[in-house]
Amino acid sequence: MLTNEQINNIRSSVNIVDIVSSYIPLTKKGKNYFGVCPFHPDSDPSFCVSEQKQIYTCFSCKATGNVLHFIMNYENINFMDAVKIIADKANIDINIGDTSRYLPDKNKKLFEIYDVASKFYQNNINTINGIKARDYLHDRGFDDNIIKEFMIGLSLPNHDLLTKILINNKNSYEDMIKSGLVVKNNYGYSDIYNNRIMFPIWDITGKVVGFSGRIFNGEDTNKYAKYINTKETPIFKKGELLYNYHRAKNACRQKNFTVIVEGQLDLIRAYSIGLSNIVATMGTAFTKEHAMLVKRLAKDVVICFDGDSAGEKATLACGNELENLGITPKIVRLEESLDPDEYIRKFGKDRFLEKIDNPISFMDFKLSFYKNNKNLNDNNDIAKYVNTIIDELSRIDDDVLKELTLKKLSLESRLDIDFLRNSLNNKKVLVKRDVKIVTQQIKENKYELATKYLIYYMLKDKKAIKIYNSSKVFIPNEKYRLLAKEISCFYLNNGFIKVADLMNSFVNDDDIIKLIGEIEKLDLRDDYDVNKINDCINVLKQYTVNYETKNLDQKLHNTDSYDEKIALAQRLLDLKKEQSKVMEEK
Ligand code: CTP
Ligand code: MN
Repeated sequence: MLTNEQINNIRSSVNIVDIVSSYIPLTKKGKNYFGVCPFHPDSDPSFCVSEQKQIYTCFSCKATGNVLHFIMNYENINFMDAVKIIADKANIDINIGDTSRYLPDKNKKLFEIYDVASKFYQNNINTINGIKARDYLHDRGFDDNIIKEFMIGLSLPNHDLLTKILINNKNSYEDMIKSGLVVKNNYGYSDIYNNRIMFPIWDITGKVVGFSGRIFNGEDTNKYAKYINTKETPIFKKGELLYNYHRAKNACRQKNFTVIVEGQLDLIRAYSIGLSNIVATMGTAFTKEHAMLVKRLAKDVVICFDGDSAGEKATLACGNELENLGITPKIVRLEESLDPDEYIRKFGKDRFLEKIDNPISFMDFKLSFYKNNKNLNDNNDIAKYVNTIIDELSRIDDDVLKELTLKKLSLESRLDIDFLRNSLNNKKVLVKRDVKIVTQQIKENKYELATKYLIYYMLKDKKAIKIYNSSKVFIPNEKYRLLAKEISCFYLNNGFIKVADLMNSFVNDDDIIKLIGEIEKLDLRDDYDVNKINDCINVLKQYTVNYETKNLDQKLHNTDSYDEKIALAQRLLDLKKEQSKVMEEK
């Protein structure tokens, strides 16, 4: 375990600007550096890194933190792993070993259960019971190396083997059921998976968090689901993870593009012919969270979904989700409705890889998508098609692409290009008016404002900390109150305040880190004096007194005891005096 001081030393041994710019491009503007925020969908540079304060803040989503929070959130890892990465970069030997023991306790059991289960299933496939399953995989062209690398396993036809093993590992029934691998029925507890080939699903750090189990024994796919995925648990959220992400991470960053396919079998096939910069969704919709994960990997994205019409629709939805984040994907469509696995087996790996290297633009894909089932000799169909494409064009910024597409559209529709250009321009005005952002001024009450200013001064000046501590005022907002307390403690321990290090006290409290970010952005005048600090304290005193007065009034009203009434009345009187004193000081 590291001390706070050691963690702070590691934090201050690197420059946040160097670290962040090794993940996202930054441009210097004035004192600060700006880039596109990796923590929310955006294409504007609202992400600000302060070299002086050694923290980052997003003006849009309010993400804030020091270099450790950045690594933690960007890599989706825990705090100690982030410390380890930064120590590594700074060549500091900390030797804290396996950081998995720092995992939040509440999910530790689930991770352990999945670890045991995946080893058990993997072992089964190597035994004599696994011959048929291995034959099936071999027949489909997956060799033993691939089986091993993707940790493919087998659940046996018995109904409670895994359950027994989990019990032997001292797991509670509650945790076993929570994991989604065990169910309770009339006879007791039994395994969810029987006689299926088990594909482990990893989270983005590479820990097994779920399974997709495929039938393989010639069972009827109309009677039984071809794949059964583990149910959603606190560690397994299909909409938030991509299959193979942890393995593909480096390859995607190196090659600067990421390929997305629809299923794990397609992925494993493509991977086995050398395409390592590849991730897969698991037959579920492509979500905004997926898009954000993909955005972190590389600038370019190639979508290569199944060749059927479901795959075509999914391509459009996935592409739109990516465009919302400012990524324009490229598209590969496979002929004859084949999926990547079938395509590679039918036409060979070279032809597949060549297709991946020569994708079409998303706009060309849309042209062909919206032409589906339309007869371009029919005026109604032409009108529908042209209007849809003009609509699409009005949402993009690339003038060259617009012009090229208009030319194509003009040829296809036999409409004059000037006419099309005009329609597009008219549309643009409309759209601009539609998306006009109404900035909402959130009214803050005076207590909140006073609190914010007070904390701002406390972060700058030890005088403010001392005044706050001796004043005994009550800060109404709980989060601010906690923050003020931590600032006092930090000062007590260190004799100074350093915002970037203070943030290490709030590893699990994003809200407070965001508050610090907001307060840091206030940027009040430097030439303040003690009076300004006292003003804040006085406003908060008013609150404290009012609050207590209300309390006492209530009590006075409710009590029948004569003695208590007198005591309460006396305290009220004292408070009134104090109140008028606060007013005078003002
Ligand atoms: N899927 C699922 N449940 C199903 C069918 C599919 O969860 N009943 C998911 C699986 O993650 C699967 C993906 O959707 O990998 C794609 O499904 P599909 O195209 O039907 O399967 P393939 O990937 O072609 O798998 P196979 O080649 O083994 O049939
Ligand atoms: Mn397939």
